[in-house]
Amino acid sequence: MDRTDLMRQIRDEVIALKASPLYQYRIENRYKPVIGQGNHDADIIFIGEGPGKNEAETGVPFCGASGRILDELLASIELPRAEVYVANIIKDRPPGNRDPRPEEIELYGPFLDRQIEIIEPRVIATLGRFSMTYILQRYNCPEQTGSIGQLHGKIIKTVIGERSTTILPLYHPAVAVYNRNMLNDLKKDFVVLKSLI
Ligand code: URA
Repeated sequence: MDRTDLMRQIRDEVIALKASPLYQYRIENRYKPVIGQGNHDADIIFIGEGPGKNEAETGVPFCGASGRILDELLASIELPRAEVYVANIIKDRPPGNRDPRPEEIELYGPFLDRQIEIIEPRVIATLGRFSMTYILQRYNCPEQTGSIGQLHGKIIKTVIGERSTTILPLYHPAVAVYNRNMLNDLKKDFVVLKSLI
């Protein structure tokens, strides 16, 4: 099976995931699960938190206000979105965009783990504290006790499988929707990202 087949398998499993506490909400609202989008051979995977309303309506990650910030940040380092892969930990929209719950992270996390195994990225760029904490704990990084305020923009090296992989924690683009200072901080961290590719 190639990477696209393996991703389709994940999509089909998530579509049928009746065990999820978010399944009923998805069906009632005619929402779609949001699996991920982009290049299956990407060097960089971006990992957000979970879909908002726009994303759940379209099935496309980061297509609303946060997505416009992400696009601006990618443009600032001349990195086309089509070259990277964008996913979330949580694949279904939590009601009212509330924070994901530990049991939801536990349920959906293994799908993200498989996406990382399929893509074999050189760089994992986490967007926000939930994906940062998940990834640092998942790969047993000593930095896992750090806050996003301490770790954003810091290069963290790990090994996944046999591959040396760089984790780069970034603030979530939503923080910059109404705050231009945060946008500048994010832009500086994207310069670090550019240095990795
Ligand atoms: N916020 C996220 O974390 N992910 C999305 O896909 C959209 C908004």
